[in-house]
Amino acid sequence: MKLSGKDLLGIKEMSTDEINLIIDTAESFKEVLERDIKKVPTLRGKTIVNLFYEPSTRTRTSFELAGKRLSADVVNITPSISSIVKGESLIDTAKNIESMNSDFIILRHSAAGAPYLISKVLRSSIINAGDGSHEHPTQALLDILTIKEKKGGIRDIDVAIIGDIAHSRVARSNIYGLTKLGAKVRVSGPPTMIPWGIEKLGVKVFYKIEDALKDVDVIMMLRIQLERQEKGLFPTIREYAKLYCLTPERVKLAKTDVIIMHPGPINRGVEISPEVSDGPYSVILEQVTNGLAVRMAVLYLLSGEVE
Ligand code: CP
Repeated sequence: MKLSGKDLLGIKEMSTDEINLIIDTAESFKEVLERDIKKVPTLRGKTIVNLFYEPSTRTRTSFELAGKRLSADVVNITPSISSIVKGESLIDTAKNIESMNSDFIILRHSAAGAPYLISKVLRSSIINAGDGSHEHPTQALLDILTIKEKKGGIRDIDVAIIGDIAHSRVARSNIYGLTKLGAKVRVSGPPTMIPWGIEKLGVKVFYKIEDALKDVDVIMMLRIQLERQEKGLFPTIREYAKLYCLTPERVKLAKTDVIIMHPGPINRGVEISPEVSDGPYSVILEQVTNGLAVRMAVLYLLSGEVE
């Protein structure tokens, strides 16, 4: 089986078979990452360009490492020292990169839809590394792999996603992916951060975090985007933390074998207490490890090297 298009733009457009194909392929790449020599020749001769208009630690580094582990050439473009600061448009920048024979462009951009825009005019494979508040598909795929490893599957698993649901591309991609695979998803956060009509995506809404956490298998905390405070979505950081911070006391409401996830970066003491993020139920760093295998799988499956 193959992925249906040349690009990976969002989980919404993917079939369950495609999601499972990526997860199964990532599981096999995890074995490569445990070898002494963590490198295979699969993408020798291919060129990957990381084009990140927004900051990133995990996504950019893991795409770079994924490309290098597969023997591709990887180039990172830093907008602040590129011709983007001279006013070059996204499409012009992307077309110029492609003129140097790129095979993949990994794009992170603040505008929702930016990867879709360039995918229509380029022959390179475009991978969405986060577009505005819209989607972050490889994050959801690594989250699904982590849940599958820890819980043995996704069907009928109860997952609570907590925080700024309205502005979270991680939440949106996970809601699409987890519900397609049969998980039961709840969301919780302040009413100003829960989009109207989100129930139509197949999730339950709880405004009190305590109600959302009751008997869940997985808690996925979202980064509170501190820049949103200026827009009046919550009164103070202290009040947000009082009402929604994941504390050891709140963790006790979930199942005794709950796993705690966070896409990073963490605001310690705001959405998650240090005792919880560093505690025995946390799989936050395992998510990061799985991100590398998932990105290797995505690059391989889009490369045209699949039989
Ligand atoms: N989870 C995530 O997207 O992290 P980065 O912003 O560091 O890439």
